[in-house]
Amino acid sequence: MLAGRPVGSITRGTTSPNRLRRCDRWLAGPASRRLRGAGPHPVVVDLGYGASPVTVVELHARLRQVRRDVRVVGVEIDPQRVAAASPLTRDGLSFRRGGFEVPVDGGARPVVVRAFNVLRQYDEDEVVGAWRRVRDRLAPGGVLVDGTCDEVGRRAAWVAVEPAGPVSLTLSLRLGGLDRPSEVAERLPKALIHRNVPGEPVHAFLRDLDAAWAHAAPHGAWGARQRFLAAVRAVAAHWPLLDGPPRWRLGEVTVAWDAVAPR
Ligand SMILES: C[S@@+](CC[C@H](N)C(=O)[O-])C[C@H]1O[C@@H](n2cnc3c(N)ncnc32)[C@H](O)[C@@H]1O
Repeated sequence: MLAGRPVGSITRGTTSPNRLRRCDRWLAGPASRRLRGAGPHPVVVDLGYGASPVTVVELHARLRQVRRDVRVVGVEIDPQRVAAASPLTRDGLSFRRGGFEVPVDGGARPVVVRAFNVLRQYDEDEVVGAWRRVRDRLAPGGVLVDGTCDEVGRRAAWVAVEPAGPVSLTLSLRLGGLDRPSEVAERLPKALIHRNVPGEPVHAFLRDLDAAWAHAAPHGAWGARQRFLAAVRAVAAHWPLLDGPPRWRLGEVTVAWDAVAPR
């Protein structure tokens, strides 16, 4: 890398309004303690926001409900995308060029770096290095959220990575019309997507979720939400889940990273 050049490569800029709502809801919900506990003007970065800055604007609006003084910075490696977003700059919302080195004015350390649908376009063996670079930039108690979702955000999955390393995998699914939870498999983050094969823990986790979902079919009489609650409750007996029914009701479940990490 030449000094000063952003770390990473320009990739396709596909994005759409509300696509990242499930991750936003988690950041403003279970993960919000990180923001609440931070000092004045905590910085949150939306890294690799794409051809339109819409997800950055949405993230800012949602996190302002948690911390009025949050500073959300959209960081994009493509200078044209930064130029296009810049007119939207306002109090607490800004845009700048950068990559995995995560530049922020004044050298501030971000409490959250959300990188959605960014690493999926890299090779699997580039993930650990990218995580390490971003981890090194986080504030104490901060988190990198490396996630992936479908085009309209109905199926999403993300890994939470703290300064000391990855801590959890979250799956978040629209329950209406869901055939089986493993539909999320094709949206797993890069660190896991090639590991959804027999013998790998993430494969066993999805297999168990599917089996519990099938077994819970009678609960579907009360709706998909009740069915998912029953399924996840059954899975919780065998897997170290880090959340509980209030999140499961939303079609979300978080499992400890060590239980699903690649072998
Ligand atoms: C598919 S878009 C994702 C847009 C948005 N995050 C979403 O999920 O809808 C990926 C974007 O990440 C940008 N990108 C790729 N590598 C990057 C890096 N290392 N740092 C910053 N941006 C990066 C690409 O230029 C592209 O605009």
